[in-house]
Amino acid sequence: MSPKNLNLDIYLREIEIAERVQELGEEVSEKYQDVNPLLISVLSGAFIFTSDLIRNIDVPHDLLFTKIKSYEGTHPGSTIDFQLPVDGQVKGRDVLIIEDIIDTGRTADFLISHLRAKQAKSIGVISLLWKPSKYEFDYKLDFVGFSIPDIFVLGYGMDYNEYGRNLKDIYILNQHKNQ
Ligand code: IMP
Ligand code: MG
Repeated sequence: MSPKNLNLDIYLREIEIAERVQELGEEVSEKYQDVNPLLISVLSGAFIFTSDLIRNIDVPHDLLFTKIKSYEGTHPGSTIDFQLPVDGQVKGRDVLIIEDIIDTGRTADFLISHLRAKQAKSIGVISLLWKPSKYEFDYKLDFVGFSIPDIFVLGYGMDYNEYGRNLKDIYILNQHKNQ
């Protein structure tokens, strides 16, 4: 995919993201003081958010990465594939799942069910972005950076067919002009 073929509109600037991530770090630190939480970052999309978030968390914690693939292009894939398991490390832990973006919520729901089965003591979810109009579950997300409409975004770790993870700002992919 050549980036030249993509029509992108700026959506969230680096500075706005940084300010919100700092606030989120403070909220997480407040909630998880004294419990040494296990943060589980969902690769690949959440890797940049995770690296900024943990530098704004000032309580002791452990960090693991997992990898779940659920998307092809801009449409939800029919299968969810566990590529990097975290079994054996979650029993009895206060776990916080770190997501870049929650759309239908199926990926997060899959991970929550899995962590429950592995006997996590508690399970929380933080997501930089959330699409409430697409969300299919009752589970209330613990921390959300920005609620956004039903748009497809990329940048700040999030990709469109592997393009755009390195962009410092977050952009809307304008599908009408590209497809
Ligand atoms: P869900 O299972 O529908 O909640 O989708 C979760 C995953 O789909 C996210 O962690 C992203 O990897 C991907 N995804 C959903 N919406 C977008 C988007 O607008 N841009 C890029 N990736 C997205
Ligand atoms: Mg993701």
